[in-house]
Amino acid sequence: MCGIIGYVGKEDAAPILLEGLRRLEYRGYDSSGIAVMNGSKSIQLRKKSGRLQNLRNLVADQPTKGACGISHTRWATHGEPTDNNAHPHLDQSGNLAIVHNGVIENYQSLRDALEKEGHEFKSQTDSEVLAHLIGKIYDASDETDLHKRLISSLREALKQVSGTYGIAAMHTDSPKFLVGARLGSPLIVGVGHGENFLASDVGAVISHTSNAVYLNDRDIVCLTEDEFRVETVEGGISDYEVSEVEYTAEQADIGDYPHYMLKEIYEQPESIQNVFRGRLLDEEASAILGGLNMTPKQLRDVDRIVLCGCGTASHAAMAGEYIIESLARIPTEVEIASEFRYRNPPLDKNTLVFVISQSGETLDTLSAMREGQRKGHRVLGIVNAVGSTIARESDGGSYLYSGPEIGVAATKSFTSQVTMLALLGLLLGRMRHLSVDYGKNMLEEIRALPAKVERILEQSDRIKEIALKYIDAEGMLFLGRQFNYPTAMEAALKMKEISYIFASGHASAELKHGVIALVTEKLPSVFIMPNDSVYEKNVSSLEEVKARKGPCIAVTTEGNTEMERIADDVIYIPPVTECLSPILSVIPMQLLSYHFAVARGCDVDKPRNLAKSVTVE
Ligand code: AGP
Repeated sequence: MCGIIGYVGKEDAAPILLEGLRRLEYRGYDSSGIAVMNGSKSIQLRKKSGRLQNLRNLVADQPTKGACGISHTRWATHGEPTDNNAHPHLDQSGNLAIVHNGVIENYQSLRDALEKEGHEFKSQTDSEVLAHLIGKIYDASDETDLHKRLISSLREALKQVSGTYGIAAMHTDSPKFLVGARLGSPLIVGVGHGENFLASDVGAVISHTSNAVYLNDRDIVCLTEDEFRVETVEGGISDYEVSEVEYTAEQADIGDYPHYMLKEIYEQPESIQNVFRGRLLDEEASAILGGLNMTPKQLRDVDRIVLCGCGTASHAAMAGEYIIESLARIPTEVEIASEFRYRNPPLDKNTLVFVISQSGETLDTLSAMREGQRKGHRVLGIVNAVGSTIARESDGGSYLYSGPEIGVAATKSFTSQVTMLALLGLLLGRMRHLSVDYGKNMLEEIRALPAKVERILEQSDRIKEIALKYIDAEGMLFLGRQFNYPTAMEAALKMKEISYIFASGHASAELKHGVIALVTEKLPSVFIMPNDSVYEKNVSSLEEVKARKGPCIAVTTEGNTEMERIADDVIYIPPVTECLSPILSVIPMQLLSYHFAVARGCDVDKPRNLAKSVTVE
């Protein structure tokens, strides 16, 4: 949430900052700004509400000059998305600029005290308080080394704030020098040759360098064009290493697709394959997940599993609950991370906790992980973003290797997460009661998934026709049962977040307990009902909706002709073993919501009020 990029080097900073912001825009897109230090030691500030293009236009009209700067794309927490509330913010003197991602919880009391001392604020943000506080400490300091003075002012200020931050700052006294710090909001150093970067995400710097340092919480960093130094806020030595970014700028680009969301939907044959590549063991008819860092004995001793995540990741967890319980017979529960972190659920020593997160930065999920660890539990991560905070702080886990997911609506991460949970179920199941034959069949089924996904993607035009047919729908119901109840939940979330229509997902049999009251000729219901053990039950639920004149779309298995007669529209998925069906059945739902939203003129990659990774509470 909110994107930061800072640059110090020899090139003109503004184009580099604007390009970095373009790559970070998915983190927040209600306003943006840059501050560039010029040679004559003043800060050139350009800020604009609205999309990044507005800032680009402003910078084109009022160019900046200088090879050191900081910039920000915002997702508003405190204060509306106005020009004034956009970052960067200056201190009272106008000589210090900062960009900030996170929330300063005690900003009001700090602001009141600063105002009493004569400080004048230009915005309603919590972040501006931090600029004034650092500037005040800086101005009062008698340290003559100006670099040291800026670092120690930042350090002192951070001791006075509570909350979370990823910060970049600069001062006119040190025109080619940046400082930064992180606590709870990600920050990386992009290590270049004769240039260095600070950013909230490696994606921002990927076209300049593939070397990055993932900073830890309470790290403080300073950069010149030739070197950087990392310490802790307390002044200690920080352990860091320079890592190679695992994807290229091309992979993160949109290519010929009109939207990242569509690109990522179409990447699923490959992203699913990336989950199981090298992780299927034919000889043992099982899976191998080395990153769990657990011995076979420890895995055999697990008697309960908790799966924790937010949004789409929590729906993948729901699918995982069904899958793991059916394959491994281990009691499994799903905890919404934001609830888990403040509850006190009883966990015993043989309970294994997994946190599931595409970004590896979602604050609620991260906090849930830390809460589990605080209580002495092993918490493992199922994460996509390599080097992310959850990946680094978890006690082990498995990467999804899906490549960057930039569309705000999660698509390929869901199918990858469910595939990973299926591997986990298979691994644990084969250590318990699952037969060799069952294991072998599962391996075949998993290997067949990418080709089956291709077959679904070929139906995109047909799904678009269906989306257009229902384009005036004011809402939509999504119904599924057993393994596809989570699919219904995920389908409804996709529809809501990118189309802004009311949509809700339910277990089909719950219809008659209340939801059916909503059914009218104007409310389409989508039944996710492959030919499985509950198919007939789903048919009954669909008939109940039809009897009340509700339009019905059925997502069912190829070869099912019955639905052609009963449902208004039918979408087919290839036959698949029941427990893996959510991996296939969700794909037409992603395409349906995509085509529906595009036809309604919605910005599917940047839906209103949202941002890709939620790093605030
Ligand atoms: C879904 O489309 C959303 N983008 C959102 O629900 C997302 O899945 C959630 O915020 C969790 O993100 P994470 O996987 O990066 O932790």
